[in-house]
Amino acid sequence: MSDLFDLKVGYVTFKNPVAVASMAGVTDSDFFGNFPDAGLYFLGGYSLDEATMDASREMVRRGRKEFVSDDIFALIESELKKVSGKGVAIGINVRATSPEPFIRAAELAKKYGAILEINGHCRQEEMGAINAGEAMLKDRIALARLVSEVKKTGAVISLKMRSGIVDDVKLARILEKAGLDILHVDAMGVKGANLNVIKKLRDSTSLFIIGNNSITNYETAQAMYSAGADMISVARAAMANPKLIKGLVSYTGDQQKQTGWYNAPSHICRGGDLRGLTWCCPPIKECPVHGALARANLSPEKFARIKLKFGEGTKLEKGSTTCFGSMVWCCKFNKPCYLREDSMAENKLDYKEYTALKKKLSEEIIRNIDKEKVVT
Ligand SMILES: Cc1cc2nc3c(=O)[nH]c(=O)nc-3n(C[C@H](O)[C@H](O)[C@H](O)COP(=O)(O)O)c2cc1C
Repeated sequence: MSDLFDLKVGYVTFKNPVAVASMAGVTDSDFFGNFPDAGLYFLGGYSLDEATMDASREMVRRGRKEFVSDDIFALIESELKKVSGKGVAIGINVRATSPEPFIRAAELAKKYGAILEINGHCRQEEMGAINAGEAMLKDRIALARLVSEVKKTGAVISLKMRSGIVDDVKLARILEKAGLDILHVDAMGVKGANLNVIKKLRDSTSLFIIGNNSITNYETAQAMYSAGADMISVARAAMANPKLIKGLVSYTGDQQKQTGWYNAPSHICRGGDLRGLTWCCPPIKECPVHGALARANLSPEKFARIKLKFGEGTKLEKGSTTCFGSMVWCCKFNKPCYLREDSMAENKLDYKEYTALKKKLSEEIIRNIDKEKVVT
């Protein structure tokens, strides 16, 4: 399974793209024992300084679970020791009110090959009152400064955030520049996850995206992947049924084995992100491809040139039975099309190789798009 995915961020390698998200008072080294199959497990959240720890104690007094300790760094280190080296990548989700504790935690994370995750998510009143957790999102300059300070430790840095609190795209872009590695997005919507948020972030940044919220089964997992998430994470449903993680890992592994592109985008005309331009026809008739190209600041002519140039000399180049004479213009593998299939047979191209070439074509198209300028 470990060779199936090519998932790496800095010094962290993930054996698969399924994570367990942090739940304060729950996700400790004992609970970790339920998830030997996970690709990533977040310990915490931990309150690192006096102000946040006092807030945690307040929260416990009114019945919430929290990890309370008089020596939080000793607790984190002993937890890291217990879960490290078991084949599951580890993250520590932390809150604080000044840079120093984040920096100290990042050094600890790095020592154990783990990810430091800044908690910009917690919306409990006690945390809000001291500008910790979600409140940090509101000052994106200060947050970018924090990221760049913490990044100096050399640790892999993630930010956990809830979407829709601030301008997500503006925030993501500035944090990417500041050195953030991973954006872990709770895409909380009115009913389940708001996948549009993930698509926008996919189109406008190159950050590694972990998509979170209401993933309870294969369908919700696949929808999150198709929207552009590199990885998915699960909290409540993993608590209710820890076996779900193994099921999601095996489902994702099957998708990867069959297609080689577990998070392949949807067609543009079905709301896909810009990676989906790889499935598009030539931009000649009135169709959503024009809107997508306009958002990407890519002229139809340049788009056509990129596709045709990429096709040259590859098994996508010819498509004698297809609508436009080349398979660079053909659609997604899961859409049955006898015209494409005839050309695939003619070119001795199986689904996996077809998808691998389309994935490379997608990467080539994205390389030609300035993500800073994408209109979202
Ligand atoms: C009991 C509980 C505690 C949580 N504690 C944290 C936390 O400490 N840090 C954090 O970033 N998110 C925390 N979360 C949020 C989850 O990680 C996750 O973003 C949220 O529950 C949505 O994902 P889900 O639909 O898979 O549950 C907590 C959630 C729950 C239910």
